[in-house]
Amino acid sequence: MAPLRVAFGALVLLLGLLIGGVAHAAGAPASGVPQPVVEAARGGQCVEDPAFMRRNHMKVLKHQRDDTLRGGVRTGQYSLKTCIDCHASKSTNSVAASDTNFCQSCHTYAAVKIDCFECHSNKPQVKP
Ligand code: HEC
Ligand code: HEC
Ligand code: HEC
Repeated sequence: MAPLRVAFGALVLLLGLLIGGVAHAAGAPASGVPQPVVEAARGGQCVEDPAFMRRNHMKVLKHQRDDTLRGGVRTGQYSLKTCIDCHASKSTNSVAASDTNFCQSCHTYAAVKIDCFECHSNKPQVKP
């Protein structure tokens, strides 16, 4: 009896692995959920690793804002103006004029609203 039970156990385990593997392969890339279209930067290198920025840009920008307004620091690494210089769209010259423009793209997708451009320009100061 014991060897049979072991064999049965192994079969169940194998089946589980197989089903799990198939479900994983089917679910990962072809999830059918549309991804946001994010226009590429104009060039150069981001102020931090892009993967870090994807997760943390809101934090560094907010710290920068607090530093500027409360501490008078205006030479920070995370100046909003520099983001816009690199990330403004080549077609609209803005980061937030259309839904594929950089700061708009993910935010529209994730239903995030930011008020930054009510005061700050969404265009680079120097023309391309
Ligand atoms: C009510 C107007 C207003 C709003 C809204 C606003 N800011 Fe500002 N922000 C300012 C002012 C005024 C300064 C100081 C300008 C200066 O020193 O050049 C500033 C400075 C900054 C700075 C430092 C200077 C620079 O150019 O980098 C950053 C970063 C910044 N804001 C980010 C943000 C972000 C991100 C948002 C949206 C979440 C935002 N601000 C919304 C008024 C505003
Ligand atoms: C010198 C140019 C440059 C500056 C300045 C810059 N970036 Fe970037 N950034 C890039 C490049 C290049 C990438 C890689 C992706 C690409 O090519 O669009 C990138 C990637 C990113 C990403 C990830 C995008 C994605 O598709 O996942 C975020 C978010 C980001 N930057 C935010 C910022 C913010 C916020 C600032 C200002 C504090 C900033 N960047 C300043 C060039 C720049
Ligand atoms: C790669 C996608 C992506 C790009 C590009 C992007 N954001 Fe975001 N941003 C997000 C997501 C997602 C959130 C919401 C995060 C959360 O809720 O934790 C967010 C949140 C924010 C917030 C905080 C909003 C709040 O209510 O607290 C600010 C400020 C912000 N982004 C500024 C910017 C600026 C400025 C740019 C352009 C320079 C930009 N983002 C580009 C994905 C992006």
